[in-house]
Amino acid sequence: PTEARVGDLLSRMTLDEKLGQMTQAERGALAPQQEDLAKYGIGSVLSGGGSAPATNTPAAWADMYDSFQRTALGTRLGIPMIYGADAVHGHNNVKGATVFPHHIGLGAARDARLTERIGRTTAEEMAGTGVDWNFAPCLCVARNDRWGRTYESYGETPQLPTVLGAAEIEGLQHRLGDPGVLATAKHYVGDGGTEGGDDQGDTRISEKELRATHLPPFRKAVREGVGSVMVSFSSWNGQKLHGHKYLISDVLKKELRFKGFVVSDWAGIDQLDGEEGFTGEEVRTAVNAGIDMVMVPNDYKKFLTLLREEVDAGRIPMSRVDDANRRILAQKFRLGLFERPFTDRSRTDDVGSGEHRALARQAVRASQTLLKNDDGVLPLKRKSKIFVAGKNADDIGNQSGGWTITWQGQSGDITPGTTILEGMRERAKDVTYDRNGEGIDKSYDVAVAVVGEKPYAEFEGDRPGAMGLDDEDLAALKRLKSSGVPVAVVLVSGRPLDIADQLPGWDALLASWLPGTEGNGVSDVLFGAYRPTGKLPVSWMRDAAQQPVNVGDGKRPLFPYGYGLTYRR
Ligand code: IFM
Repeated sequence: PTEARVGDLLSRMTLDEKLGQMTQAERGALAPQQEDLAKYGIGSVLSGGGSAPATNTPAAWADMYDSFQRTALGTRLGIPMIYGADAVHGHNNVKGATVFPHHIGLGAARDARLTERIGRTTAEEMAGTGVDWNFAPCLCVARNDRWGRTYESYGETPQLPTVLGAAEIEGLQHRLGDPGVLATAKHYVGDGGTEGGDDQGDTRISEKELRATHLPPFRKAVREGVGSVMVSFSSWNGQKLHGHKYLISDVLKKELRFKGFVVSDWAGIDQLDGEEGFTGEEVRTAVNAGIDMVMVPNDYKKFLTLLREEVDAGRIPMSRVDDANRRILAQKFRLGLFERPFTDRSRTDDVGSGEHRALARQAVRASQTLLKNDDGVLPLKRKSKIFVAGKNADDIGNQSGGWTITWQGQSGDITPGTTILEGMRERAKDVTYDRNGEGIDKSYDVAVAVVGEKPYAEFEGDRPGAMGLDDEDLAALKRLKSSGVPVAVVLVSGRPLDIADQLPGWDALLASWLPGTEGNGVSDVLFGAYRPTGKLPVSWMRDAAQQPVNVGDGKRPLFPYGYGLTYRR
């Protein structure tokens, strides 16, 4: 029946209406002249990272979504728009939403059922704001921890993103029943395998290795019925994925039989000729390679003009335009957008609900990975006199990481939730905190240093040089150490850090990854209410020079893939 509906609609569409469906514009670019959505028949709107309505509340998102949708429905054929956003660890652009651990933590938890529930809960929170398309899951296989997107990966082996990615897709799409949203398998393909771990870099490997390491999660995602695939900014052996007809059309669409639609990354087509902006040639190369919808994202008028010129001149065949439209419209029908085009307001108040936060807390617990525990320093005792230090102890922004409220994430109290320190104070009475570790003395039973990375996203997080702790962390640790009190380190980071030199001086080490808003999940494990069960989803480097280091490569990491201790009973 969907095929018939698509065929019928397509037969009534003009060329310009078809080209509009292939266009995705940014909310910020469109908002000042929203009528353009109807005038150009634009098929999709997106919020880039942190692009939110002025009052960033779930209700304001719903109002914004419905207003765009009303405009779209006012067109001649009343084709609904589809709205995309990066809800990559919960509906993280929305203030008040539940923010789950980033993928790397879920890779440590290795629990497909839990990941599916997170996907489903994320979809429910999205549905409450109208947003019906998620640019997630990231199915990257992170092979070099220098990469700024390592934390968006479930791990360094193809198995983790394959199994957990499929579970997330199942949860998000929920067989596209209410409140399913469209999922996106990204970034196709090999984004985690670039030389030097460069974001948007070049993946220089054989086809055999590409297929063995980076393709399996996509193969599985397609089987799982994922609705869209986003193309990677990266290149494969020097050729940009955004113009890679073999990988997009031959492998993904023909060989893997992907029936959904392919979307570009943000201004991804602009990079095809290495010059700023885009040309007709770049539009043609990308569309003919098999990209169905272009995330323009700003100059949609120019995009439509060039696209039309290319089609009129016969350089983009009509069959390609029709194929792209069939794919896009089929997903809109499948999603139920024609029947239920507006926000499900009954869900708006549930964004960030106690039930959702309880699930996030459970996920935080499951992701905690214990790497060292000499003399049973952990679990902490409730009656102990505890000194806490470190910049990540009392900072929701830091513990949530990038893609939280803003694209890069930000330090500070940016969203409701519980910091790790607050979680500790819920469990113990005698807890003293000083960020720099000043004031520690022998009277304390134990010191806990919550250190690690500050938020970052994409290329801004690449670390081509040193990968150690920053000076602030090292100074705080030194103060704690000099007191003679046992030191337990809680590392809040999106990837392994270069810690081998300091590790002998630490009595315990808990990798907390980027837990998100529910810091009390960390303290649940610190105090032994739950035993740590996380297993390393990536090999832990001996030093930065060892990167890339991956299981099976014959190197000796500091902690191997799969490593993780627990407490003695
Ligand atoms: O979905 C993201 C992608 O992962 C990186 N570039 C921007 C896109 C849209 O925000």
